[in-house]
Amino acid sequence: MSLLSALSLICGLLLHVSFSTSNSYPSIPRQTISYQNKLKTFREDGIFNYSTMLIREDLGMLVLGAREAIFALDLNDISVEKTAVYWRVTEEKQSECMQKGKQAEVECRNYIRTLHNVNKTTMYVCGTNAFSPTCDYMTFVDGQLRLKGKQEEGKGKCPFDPFQRYSSLMVESDLYSATSMNFLGSEPVVLRSSYLPLRTETNSNWLSEPSFVHMELVGESFKSQDGDDDKIYLFFSENAKEYDFYSKVVVSRVARVCKGDMGGQRALLRKWTSFLKARLDCSLSEASLPPIVQDVFLLKNDDWRKSVFYAVFTPPSSLSQTSLVCAYSVSAIRDIFNEGKFKTSVVLETSHTKWVMHAGEVPVPRPGACIDNVARNMGMNSSQDLPDKTLQFIRDHQLMDEAVQPMTAGPLLVVKGPLLTRIVVDCIMALDGQNYSVMFVGTENGYVNKAVNYGGEMFIIEEIQLYEEPVPISTLRLSESKGQIYAGSEFGAVQMPVSNCSRHATCVDCVLARDPYCAWDLATKQCSSVTGVSNTALQSLKEGDSTQCPQPDPVMAVNLVLVPGNNIQLLCQAHSNLAQMHWRHSGQTLCPNDKYYIYNWGLLIVGASTSDAGLYICDSVEQTAGRIYSRTVTAYQLQLSSVGRTTTPSNGFTKLFDSYGTNTTKTSSISNQDGGDLLAESQSNRVTGFEVAVILLSLMCFSLITVVIWTWSKGHLRCLKLAQSTSQSQVERQSVEYMHIQNRTSEKRRHGPQSVRPLNANNNHSAVDFKGNGGQLSTQMPNISTLDGLGYINDESEI
Ligand SMILES: *[C@@H]1O[C@H](CO)[C@@H](O)[C@H](O)[C@H]1NC(C)=O
Ligand SMILES: *[C@@H]1O[C@H](CO)[C@@H](O)[C@H](O)[C@H]1NC(C)=O
Repeated sequence: MSLLSALSLICGLLLHVSFSTSNSYPSIPRQTISYQNKLKTFREDGIFNYSTMLIREDLGMLVLGAREAIFALDLNDISVEKTAVYWRVTEEKQSECMQKGKQAEVECRNYIRTLHNVNKTTMYVCGTNAFSPTCDYMTFVDGQLRLKGKQEEGKGKCPFDPFQRYSSLMVESDLYSATSMNFLGSEPVVLRSSYLPLRTETNSNWLSEPSFVHMELVGESFKSQDGDDDKIYLFFSENAKEYDFYSKVVVSRVARVCKGDMGGQRALLRKWTSFLKARLDCSLSEASLPPIVQDVFLLKNDDWRKSVFYAVFTPPSSLSQTSLVCAYSVSAIRDIFNEGKFKTSVVLETSHTKWVMHAGEVPVPRPGACIDNVARNMGMNSSQDLPDKTLQFIRDHQLMDEAVQPMTAGPLLVVKGPLLTRIVVDCIMALDGQNYSVMFVGTENGYVNKAVNYGGEMFIIEEIQLYEEPVPISTLRLSESKGQIYAGSEFGAVQMPVSNCSRHATCVDCVLARDPYCAWDLATKQCSSVTGVSNTALQSLKEGDSTQCPQPDPVMAVNLVLVPGNNIQLLCQAHSNLAQMHWRHSGQTLCPNDKYYIYNWGLLIVGASTSDAGLYICDSVEQTAGRIYSRTVTAYQLQLSSVGRTTTPSNGFTKLFDSYGTNTTKTSSISNQDGGDLLAESQSNRVTGFEVAVILLSLMCFSLITVVIWTWSKGHLRCLKLAQSTSQSQVERQSVEYMHIQNRTSEKRRHGPQSVRPLNANNNHSAVDFKGNGGQLSTQMPNISTLDGLGYINDESEI
């Protein structure tokens, strides 16, 4: 027993801590949508690594590149395969690759890495081809994908190593690629394959062990007053040469080149004359090592100046679990490249190099600038006309002195826990007429977080589990026109809609979700897409104000029997991860202690006594945008039972049932208590990751105690064990079922005595015995599968 009390002391402390700490970053998604079989999925047996995607809106197709296969899927439903083509490594290639020391089954395969549009009928595709990158043209004619079999050299267009990061982009018929040129992966290059190929110099000042992430074209020539050129932006991370550190420091970068670059004439022949790079900043605190960019998405605007790059960053060391999302305006990046100071290296007496701001003169035309009106007025119509002074300067100075800062000074999103991997951003006009950027961010464990930053407040609407297995999401694509997101991973591709408003059943749920895609339609009494609601709809994104919602129907109390001495579990499911469950017993708020355990799906009363009879009300208290909302979710009326008391009280835990002996038709209605009082009584009103962890720990402690008691009291505890091992959703289901049983019983009772037997063995509803007699009852607890077997709960619509 001393072990027990020690344990409960620890748990008590933990619980206390969990209610007294708080965190300013609500990195907890408001709702968790667990994996559902209903998701549209594509996978083929024996095929893995579904990581390259090309959306063909014109053909209604998602072209999906995997290991040794390319599929054309229906954009509306990717589980529908239209056609496929296989591109397997030859035995010869595979054995060559193995002889060079690579693993046959993993590395010496053909991973499709590059998929671009050439024209309406032709695509360009490259694969790693057993460490011998190869490219080919692929046609889509008469509903069939076909490879041309051209076997073009893929060096510099596609990585050798399937595990290495790369990026590429097709602009008109030129392929821009950022990858490694050699087998060892040690010769990085930013290459343009065109009638006039251009590349970076082999010099670690240009690129130092980079990891390429993303490339994007920005059409800056459009209506340009200075006759400027379009640019290709490249995001990557690399070793920072500019830092004086004993160990390597990896930093994130944005670089750019001009589309019209033709290289130099003598200096920089066939090399970029416009390659400039700058550090990309995104941090929570100055002191820490810089985070590393993992993926970038360009949210395009008709006016390119208003286009915004969204970037995902992960911590530099595995010690941290905090990922960030920062946004950068295209015009801010452009200003740094067009007007900023350069960095230069100086050699000190100790022959040690130091990087400082270049304070001297900068030649004209400005090094790294595209050919614009300034250059044209000087008689220079192409980069080949640039003077040596300009070219020599740019050959030695690619790095800008100033770093690019995020638009909002800090991150738009901070997420603790499984790291973020990929991002897409959708822009949606909400009911208030404003545009909101909704971020969809994939994680390393198969989830997508849907988040919005409401004027500085980071809000994760929901996390959606796309894969049953905890696999990293390796590709994320958005089709705005279809309102669909496509995710790729090792095990398959999954499609999800940008929103599913019907998930919110009530007005309060719909409004508190603060989802820009959804509004509560007062006319149809449904949570619907903003594009389809009537003109009487409610939405409150920045405030999350649900007070305009119609009064909910009063909650009916469920009558239950109290057996003194037993432990009682009352179920009450939170609708939101941000909500705290508050319980009131006959008007008094219950505080968690040795007797009352309050957790996210219910209340446990340990060793109930006669004084525990009475009305129990479960309120969900949620803080949103600084306001507190409270609503009554469930209520129970605990009544002493004469039947139950005739048997000796056992030390077993009893999940409560209604009993024949009590008046089941009696219900009480409870009105919602206002949130202010509750706030005063609560010790904290925020649930943070830490708190959840502590609560989970407490629950684990609790399970431990359970196990201890269990071994000690030999099998009287099946119910509790069942409850502890049952998943949350099952518990929810159970709670609904019990209420259901109760309702059924009360219905039948009104119809006369013989219908009081709907749940006994004669009616195939065995295993449920409604006599509330302590220990005996607990041994007759139905398990979940038995409950599923009950005829009337098989109908999902009833639940
Ligand atoms: C491809 O998928 C397989 C199977 O899951 C995995 O073992 C392998 O590491 C993956 N390869 C790459 C390059 O991700
Ligand atoms: C598409 O591009 C391919 C490869 O460059 C070319 O052979 C073909 O003629 C083009 N087709 C059309 C319709 O332009």
